[in-house]
Amino acid sequence: MLKIRDARYAGTIQSGLEALPEIAVAGRSNVGKSSLINALLNRKNLVQTSKQPGKTRNINYFRVDLIEAPPFYLVDMPGYGYAKVARSMQDEWRKLARRYFTDNQNLKLILLLVDIRRDIKEEERMVLDLARANQAKAALVATKADKVGASERARLLKALEAAGGLKPLASSAEKRWGLEDIWNMILDAIRIS
Ligand code: GTP
Ligand code: MG
Repeated sequence: MLKIRDARYAGTIQSGLEALPEIAVAGRSNVGKSSLINALLNRKNLVQTSKQPGKTRNINYFRVDLIEAPPFYLVDMPGYGYAKVARSMQDEWRKLARRYFTDNQNLKLILLLVDIRRDIKEEERMVLDLARANQAKAALVATKADKVGASERARLLKALEAAGGLKPLASSAEKRWGLEDIWNMILDAIRIS
């Protein structure tokens, strides 16, 4: 089992942070970004989760110190695509994402979260394209896998793979599914750096 020495909020993108490898967690509003970070770090409320979509507005950095690997940041991206959020906010998100994903030498891996019951849309393609353009690795994580039965889950994962061109990893923050595989991807990404 992986040993976490410490995990804490380090600040926002504007706060002049120490340069460390970054693992970004991106995805639609309410997809489960903050919940997944809490689950990965074994903390109930390190990151605020909410039933009110659109709550995370900033790019928030969480510094993770491990026992047997170098420190890194888990980066909680603001959610996008929430219908009730004003158009100007959506443009704001695009600008923020483009700025963050472009020319970021520290960015080692983008965990792109998609609700297992939903499809890949324009914004997901934008994230995948930005990742490709900037030589950042991207992985597709299908969240809330506990919400569907096993055969439906298999069918939905295949459909997501066909749409996204990447094999998605099923996860559930609630049931703690997929966390070990996600940790292995993170460790690979920060070790290669
Ligand atoms: P924003 O910050 O608004 O973009 O949302 P987010 O992507 O950070 O989502 P958040 O983690 O706040 O989760 C949104 C809602 O989904 C909360 O009510 C969570 O409890 C729920 N949720 C998150 N992950 C899971 C999961 O794996 N299974 C189930 N059943 N519910 C989940
Ligand atoms: Mg959040």
